[in-house]
Amino acid sequence: MTKIKIKVRDLYLIFGARKKEALRLVKKGMGKNEVLKKTNCTTAVNCANFDINEGEIFVVMGLSGSGKSSLIRCLNRLNQPTSGEILIKGKDVVTMDKSQLTDLRRKELAMVFQNFGLLPHRTVVSNTAFGLEIHGVEKEAREKKAMETLATVGLQGYEHKMTSELSGGMQQRVGLARALTTDPEVLLMDEAFSALDPLIRSNMQDELLDLQKKLKKTIVFITHDLDEALKLGDRIAIMKDGEIVQVGTPEDILVDPADDYVKAFVENVDRSAIVSAGSIMFSGKETGKLTIEKDGPALALRRMRERGVDRLPVVDKSNVFLGWVKARQVAELKRKNIRSLEEILISDVPLVDPETSAADLLPLFIDHTLPLTVVNNEKELLGIIVHSSVIAEVIGKEREEIIQIKEEGGTYDGEN
Ligand SMILES: Nc1ncnc2c1ncn2[C@@H]1O[C@H](COP(=O)(O)OP(=O)(O)O)[C@@H](O)[C@H]1O
Ligand SMILES: [Mg+2]
Repeated sequence: MTKIKIKVRDLYLIFGARKKEALRLVKKGMGKNEVLKKTNCTTAVNCANFDINEGEIFVVMGLSGSGKSSLIRCLNRLNQPTSGEILIKGKDVVTMDKSQLTDLRRKELAMVFQNFGLLPHRTVVSNTAFGLEIHGVEKEAREKKAMETLATVGLQGYEHKMTSELSGGMQQRVGLARALTTDPEVLLMDEAFSALDPLIRSNMQDELLDLQKKLKKTIVFITHDLDEALKLGDRIAIMKDGEIVQVGTPEDILVDPADDYVKAFVENVDRSAIVSAGSIMFSGKETGKLTIEKDGPALALRRMRERGVDRLPVVDKSNVFLGWVKARQVAELKRKNIRSLEEILISDVPLVDPETSAADLLPLFIDHTLPLTVVNNEKELLGIIVHSSVIAEVIGKEREEIIQIKEEGGTYDGEN
């Protein structure tokens, strides 16, 4: 007998100030774009209805921006749904108070993030035990538990290494171990393997399947990759523009795609060929750009420190891109009391048009220490693209997520 673990009923999530009005229009059947035009609100989840069965891997698949993260973040209330119900053991997550939520996140749900969310200056065991630590479990007990879960994910012998010494695949195992230390009934995995290289990614998929045979957790796994969905999913839900357009077994999806959107997935449309540089870049202020006429070494170092990076792009006052500066050379200038960044500009870098497809961007990352530079025909700086965005898609959300959970006394913390 299959038992239902999570019931989602008429769930809506709308972002923006005029949610109520937007909700009314959405419920009347107005499309996402029109609602946006009328109310300036984004319909991220639109009337989702589905059940997740106990012990299954439930995959949510869809293009970037289709609402996958928005939906999964409703399940642990990182997002406050605008309307609807999410029932876990008969209790409605949507209306839980703070202490019920803390309980929910401690005992029922744990999340694994795409960019691992680990603390680089802590050991593997200390990172793994972190979830228990913020819930006040004492050191000996939490480290004992952490050692056990590390063994489960195949990390014996690595317990006392720093996480920053580990490869991406191993770091994600630590992320998984950390989620498992609290013995959650449900694992939420938002593009957990998307940042990994293909081979490692495929290994991690195999290991997750092996692990699942033993653990028999309920897993909600988000991906934009059809192959990953077909490999991992007991059932797959496909999202488009905030709506769940089909739920079915991998076979159902392949044989009987509900509409052209699903068909496009099944026919193996390479989405990296569709996603453009412009849609994944950090733009404007987010680039941290320096202006050559006014910003010198002291300001550059300060901004790098604030942003936790060791390089920044430099423009002139008309926003024309001049080059990149790296922390070490900037520090050198400062020591020599030189005020201008001019002499250390690295300008021999590939310039990218915003229409370039993600697939065509990858080969440009020859020098991994610098992001890509996106400019228009006038060589004005439009944005920068970091490596992981190309592989992953929307970096930055995890950081938000982690900070938010931390503030709410949840299970995770991290610095990326
Ligand atoms: N915090 C937010 N504020 C406003 N809009 C958001 C926020 N998060 C996501 N969105 C919007 O909601 C929609 C769904 O985004 P998201 O859930 O991130 O999609 P996916 O995970 O499938 O890429 C997009 O239109 C996105 O721009
Ligand atoms: Mg997402």
